[in-house]
Amino acid sequence: MSVKTVSPKLQWLEDEIQQLHDAGLYNHIRTLGSPQGAWLEVDERRVLNFCSNNYLGLANHPRVVQAAKQAIDKYGVGPGAVRTIAGTMSLHVQLEERLAAFKGVESAITYQSGFNANLGTIPALVGKEDAIFSDELNHASIIDGSRLSGAKIIRYAHCDAADLEKQLQAHRSEYRRALIITDGVFSMDGDVSPLDKIYEVTKNYEAILMVDDAHGEGVLGRGGRGIVDHFNLHGKVDVEVGTLSKAFGVVGGVVAGHARIVEWLRQRGRPFLFSSAMTVPDTAACLAAVDLLEESTELVDRLWDNARYFKAEMQRLGFDTGKSATPITPVMLGEAQTAQAFSRALFEAGIFATAIGYPTVPRGAARIRVMISAAHSRDDLDQGLEAFEKVGRSLGVIGG
Ligand SMILES: Cc1ncc(COP(=O)(O)O)c(C=O)c1O
Repeated sequence: MSVKTVSPKLQWLEDEIQQLHDAGLYNHIRTLGSPQGAWLEVDERRVLNFCSNNYLGLANHPRVVQAAKQAIDKYGVGPGAVRTIAGTMSLHVQLEERLAAFKGVESAITYQSGFNANLGTIPALVGKEDAIFSDELNHASIIDGSRLSGAKIIRYAHCDAADLEKQLQAHRSEYRRALIITDGVFSMDGDVSPLDKIYEVTKNYEAILMVDDAHGEGVLGRGGRGIVDHFNLHGKVDVEVGTLSKAFGVVGGVVAGHARIVEWLRQRGRPFLFSSAMTVPDTAACLAAVDLLEESTELVDRLWDNARYFKAEMQRLGFDTGKSATPITPVMLGEAQTAQAFSRALFEAGIFATAIGYPTVPRGAARIRVMISAAHSRDDLDQGLEAFEKVGRSLGVIGG
């Protein structure tokens, strides 16, 4: 991209962008020329994909693609309006009913993305007189939704139910309503929130419990029913936010839970009221993804087999894979420059795995986040492991 000399009033941008380059934090965005899958065409090279959120390989599944095509023939492409004016199509209603049944809750509402689901839900539930008790490593969309609500944000130590209780004891009585929010699976580390312990604490403080299950849906629980199913907490978690862009392979967001909460979000969830509905092909494709998840656990089982194999082999090679308990496999590299150099060397070896640095992860905790998929074959995984070993040794990340 060529950039013209900027006017003096934008000089600050020159400086900021140069600083990103100097710190190894500039995002070099690669372009895909093929559908998602284990193998991709990236910047016109065929490479093995280790960084998409396409957990189950549904992003290019023939039945999901076919459903989108058929829906376009019947309904066109765009929804034409926001949901509350003229944008609610029968497909949206079907998808919400199917998602509620899949998750085992009373009701569900869809948004255009998981990010929007958090932005819409949190300010609808709490305001200036209220408090949000939030895990310190919660996703950016939870942080932004919390700020937007105007509620007091009280952070508790990561995955620490005892610290949550301490904060509730100290502060709950100062506020009208309390909302406790945690990611289900933490997207950069792959660790799982102790939702069972959090529930035990929450129930004593008259607080609404909300989990963002973006990386748990299609991954955790029976047949990928998510973290609430994983801990058998059905009926105990008030709000489950999720995304249809990861394991579901499409794009969209969902909030599932009590019928009254969902009803309220239809009245007050701002991205639902003020931004057009999910598109026709996205909605139809998500319906096909629900069909596939309900029909068989095969893809979820394969995802976990692949993840266990890859992680064990990486640890045997001497890599630090952090505290992941899910298919998200962080390869901890420390400085952002090291992570970027590692990613570039992997790409040269035919492996696509982007480096992740600040602000997505804390400074000094840069990494390559490997995303394992059911779409990978054992040969794919072995090829990836071989490249990681070679690059790891040449950069001195692992010994030998
Ligand atoms: C925990 C969490 N919540 C929300 C989102 C946003 O989801 P979407 O990509 O559907 O906007 C993500 C994805 O990056 C996530 O990891």
